[in-house]
Amino acid sequence: MITLGIDTSCDDTSVAVVGDEGIRANLVSSHLIHAEYGGVVPEFASRAHTILLYPLVNLALKTAGISLNQVDLVAATAGPGLKGSLLCGLSFAKGLAQASGKPFVAVNHLEGHIYSVLLAHPQLEPEFLVLLVSGGHTELLLVKAPFDYVEVGATLDDACGEALDKVGKLMGLGYPAGPGVERLAQKSRSPIPLPRPDPKGLDFSYSGLKTAARNYLAAHPDTSPADMAKGLEEAAFDHLVDRVVRAVKKSGVYQVGLCGGVAVNKRLRSKLSAAGDEVGFKLYFPLPELCTDNAAMVAAAGRERYEAFGESTLDASAFDRATFAQRSSP
Ligand code: KG4
Ligand code: ZN
Repeated sequence: MITLGIDTSCDDTSVAVVGDEGIRANLVSSHLIHAEYGGVVPEFASRAHTILLYPLVNLALKTAGISLNQVDLVAATAGPGLKGSLLCGLSFAKGLAQASGKPFVAVNHLEGHIYSVLLAHPQLEPEFLVLLVSGGHTELLLVKAPFDYVEVGATLDDACGEALDKVGKLMGLGYPAGPGVERLAQKSRSPIPLPRPDPKGLDFSYSGLKTAARNYLAAHPDTSPADMAKGLEEAAFDHLVDRVVRAVKKSGVYQVGLCGGVAVNKRLRSKLSAAGDEVGFKLYFPLPELCTDNAAMVAAAGRERYEAFGESTLDASAFDRATFAQRSSP
């Protein structure tokens, strides 16, 4: 079965072709225009999606070496994300499916991120925990069975990637700042000590860390950017590791998937690996190109949904937020 996937949840236009043997094409066009504004400008994102979708679909089919006739299913992200951006990809996908007589399936972007782990590790079976850590989300999910998710922790304020992006912006790094923070941190000799967030239970909080970094930079204008980047990484990632270790111990589930854009970070991967060795849980990382937003993960999730529940109706609408998983303690 060949699935054409489309993701336009935020500021990347992505189109992928995924077959039975795996990914045949996974194209991502990031909109550089947002760097100038230090954050995503929704109207620019929608306009860019509209321009990019048609040529990217053609290029993805060409890269995969197939024609539209050979596609069996069209899958697109319906949410959560920026409403305008979502509508671009969703409407395009519905139109394409309708015009070509293919079934269409709407996909939850968060479920897509979970499938980025499963694309790399198809043998991974529930139950497993997933730490989703991106610019828009910081969540700990327990996958109890296929399509059965429990949210055991979520951010109370900013997402982890959002905090890196906002502090990075103050340091003059472009948007998104995460990759720049990682590069700078590698040059640090003496990381700035910043407070580790510690909200109750398994939830996350990043606004206090962001404010502490901002205050430090204001009080010490000569701070080495490398030392601030390293201090920020250490505090932000210690918080993630702390919640994962607690969730493993509380749930007794010793398999953990990591996904979302921040999961590309090598320091985060090594900190989590060290914790895994100590506590005894096994980690499952996607390939770096599947961590950040991409349509291959959407195609993979869409195919599973389609096989289990059939096609979506064409009135499936875009949503900016959603209750994806039942909230519960593990
Ligand atoms: O999953 P993603 O592409 O989009 C969202 O759904 O948000 O994640 C983007 C986030 C941004 O906050 C970006 O700064 C962060 O991932 N990021 C990184 C790295 N690469 C991307 N954070 C830390 N280190 C990186 N190497
Ligand atoms: Zn995402």
